[in-house]
Amino acid sequence: MTSTAPVTAPAPADGGEPLVRVQHHGTVAVLQLNRPGKLNALSTALEQELIGSLRSPAVAGAAAIVFTGSARAFSAGADTSELPEMTPERIAAYYRGSGSLYETVARLPQPTVAAISGYCLGAGFELALACDIRIADETASFGLPEVGLGILPSSGGLTRLVRAAGPAIAKEIILFGERFTAAEAHRLGLVREVAPAGEALPVALERAAVLAGKPAMAVAWTKAAIDTAAESSASASLLIEQLAYAALNRPAGGGQ
Ligand code: COA
Repeated sequence: MTSTAPVTAPAPADGGEPLVRVQHHGTVAVLQLNRPGKLNALSTALEQELIGSLRSPAVAGAAAIVFTGSARAFSAGADTSELPEMTPERIAAYYRGSGSLYETVARLPQPTVAAISGYCLGAGFELALACDIRIADETASFGLPEVGLGILPSSGGLTRLVRAAGPAIAKEIILFGERFTAAEAHRLGLVREVAPAGEALPVALERAAVLAGKPAMAVAWTKAAIDTAAESSASASLLIEQLAYAALNRPAGGGQ
């Protein structure tokens, strides 16, 4: 992997640590969740800072994006200290604000890779599921504990897990809420590769660099076509394939 540019995230107004560290490895942007003392719990402030980082010109212009956390945790989920404040009205406002993070990530035109070490729970797992690809290391521990807290995964993770693993596996994971290993996540097809401890990020960067080297428009249309195929009729999906091909193909000489 090539040079690592310095952190590009603006320093927070209060002079404290940024909640998201942004680095660039060639054309790959790396967004590191940076609340290690709280196991990268996804507070609304952290979600907002992730959205802000994704909108920054340097990240928006990257050819691929890697999301990562720290050695102990990719993220231990939604910030539980904020949950008691969530009335129905605030929840509706939340999904129009920082809670739009997960859909924003899922709809990015660039390929996205989650590099996962340690706890990957609740909304942290949902953020990883919103990425195109997940690379975990042997320390990773997955789970969706929400039902035990009297709620449910609601940042797109329930829907994405049903589509990725099927309703039976999704019920098993969500209703029991038990934690499971990287090897189990790999067996279920939720993780592409299990790296040795401490190697999730380097492996994710390698995979991201491969995707970053592919034609950006082909990657963007293909991602959108695959996502649409998962939720539409075969005939609509086939039509999208053909229209995307027509939009992408540039015959030599610019033929009609
Ligand atoms: N929200 C807010 N803070 C969290 C958090 C979360 N989801 N997960 C961990 N933290 C905080 C802890 O409160 C603690 O903060 P403190 O040191 O200021 O008290 C710090 O992170 C370290 O967590 P701790 O519980 O001491 O670590 P542990 O190794 O004993 O346990 C977990 C790790 C992940 C098993 C445990 O923290 C946990 O169960 N977290 C909640 C997971 C969860 O329910 N997520 C889904 C929410 S919908």
